[in-house]
Amino acid sequence: MKKAITFTLNNEVIETEVDPKWTLLYLLREVLEMTGTKEGCGYGECGACTVIINGQAVDSCLYPVMEAEGRKITTIEGIMLKSGELDPIQQALVQNGAVQCGFCTPGMVMSAKALLDEKERPTEDDIKDSIAGNLCRCTGYVNIVDAIKSVAGGR
Ligand code: FES
Ligand code: FES
Repeated sequence: MKKAITFTLNNEVIETEVDPKWTLLYLLREVLEMTGTKEGCGYGECGACTVIINGQAVDSCLYPVMEAEGRKITTIEGIMLKSGELDPIQQALVQNGAVQCGFCTPGMVMSAKALLDEKERPTEDDIKDSIAGNLCRCTGYVNIVDAIKSVAGGR
């Protein structure tokens, strides 16, 4: 039986009904059609499904949908600047050649954003820790770390 749930998604209040067995990822992609958040492994190993919940980077494929009640959720669709430009992290990834197939990119961006929102000047180790749960099959990570470093402190 479905249950009512209310939460904030990208600064918009969402009131909907969900099956309590769903994950947050299922609600985002399959019901709300927010497909920027990717499904890779589906069991907490790849980070492709990362979203920010109350300031923390979270694997939405493991997040029970009912836990979203009352929380503030941000997805990749919600971080565009008011000017319509990409978020500085996205711009830096592009400029540093850190996007190839792009499948991991939304998750990488959200993990990095959670770090940079919390810590204005993170160390390189902080940056590596923040994306330790995000797998990339393409870039070898050096360009990704360089991109995040280039944004740190400059936003
Ligand atoms: S899809 Fe969630 S961690 Fe891989
Ligand atoms: S750019 Fe292809 S998985 Fe990261």
